[in-house]
Amino acid sequence: MKSKRKVPARQTAGKRNRPPARATSRNTESRAELTDWDQAARWYDALVGQEGSDFQKDIIMPGVHRLLGLGKGDRVLDLACGQGVFSRFLSLKGLRVVGLDSSEALIRRARSRSSDSARFHCFDAGDNEALAGEKFSGIACLMAVQNMEHIQPVFENVARWLSPGGRFVLVTTHPCFRIPRQSHWGWDEQKKMEYRRMDLYSTETAIPIFTPPMRSEGPHTWTYHRPLESYFSALKNAGLAVVGMEEWTSNKSSQPGKRAKAENRARREFPLFLTLVSTPL
Ligand SMILES: C[S@@+](CC[C@H](N)C(=O)[O-])C[C@H]1O[C@@H](n2cnc3c(N)ncnc32)[C@H](O)[C@@H]1O
Repeated sequence: MKSKRKVPARQTAGKRNRPPARATSRNTESRAELTDWDQAARWYDALVGQEGSDFQKDIIMPGVHRLLGLGKGDRVLDLACGQGVFSRFLSLKGLRVVGLDSSEALIRRARSRSSDSARFHCFDAGDNEALAGEKFSGIACLMAVQNMEHIQPVFENVARWLSPGGRFVLVTTHPCFRIPRQSHWGWDEQKKMEYRRMDLYSTETAIPIFTPPMRSEGPHTWTYHRPLESYFSALKNAGLAVVGMEEWTSNKSSQPGKRAKAENRARREFPLFLTLVSTPL
């Protein structure tokens, strides 16, 4: 079958010769180029809005807040905060929030949508000069590690920023079951069962995501698929021990119909999101 896709997925393991997908900005003033998320900022901001999408509101933000285990007045970093939806959620819970993102356009939206109590900075999460000397009781990274080309320097920064005993909670689309363009639903007529087909898993692969996604060419961001091993190794190499893991399924249900029961069962069987909790070793 002919693919409509104009920008192909590519394997990334071991390849380090491509220029970074985004500027390794030190700060807003020294930014040399736009990130792929700058061009997607208007679309993403409209998608998320002031309080978040359904999955953010119902599953991701309450789940991460619970796993951070922080109390009023604690200092927390919202890493790759985007337009600041989780920063706003945490500020309302009485936490002192700092947000960081490499997209200047999204940081601008975060500042205009949020109260003065949250502070926002434009940095690459892997920049070793970012937030120098700052410490946090907890760090959250929501739906963004899969958009980062290099995770090792990011996790090293997390280890540097975390106070002793502090938790780093990351949520990503589940790399075992949800890989854009490489995982699909299928229907087994004999078993009357909805199944999940995975076309790859072990190979680190960069996949373009068009913004908005229904396009087949033009502006796009990247998803960097990695197997679980890559995440666990990078965390360990950064001096972080994984102390918790949760797998969150969709809370949606199918409209009544012939396949609704099978679809609902499949939704409960194959998690949408992977959550890892780690602390300094
Ligand atoms: C899908 S959005 C998630 C934003 C936000 N956490 C949320 O839940 O709405 C991914 C974000 O990762 C940011 N990002 C990607 N790579 C980054 C990097 N190396 N450093 C900082 N932010 C990065 C993008 O700018 C974008 O805001």
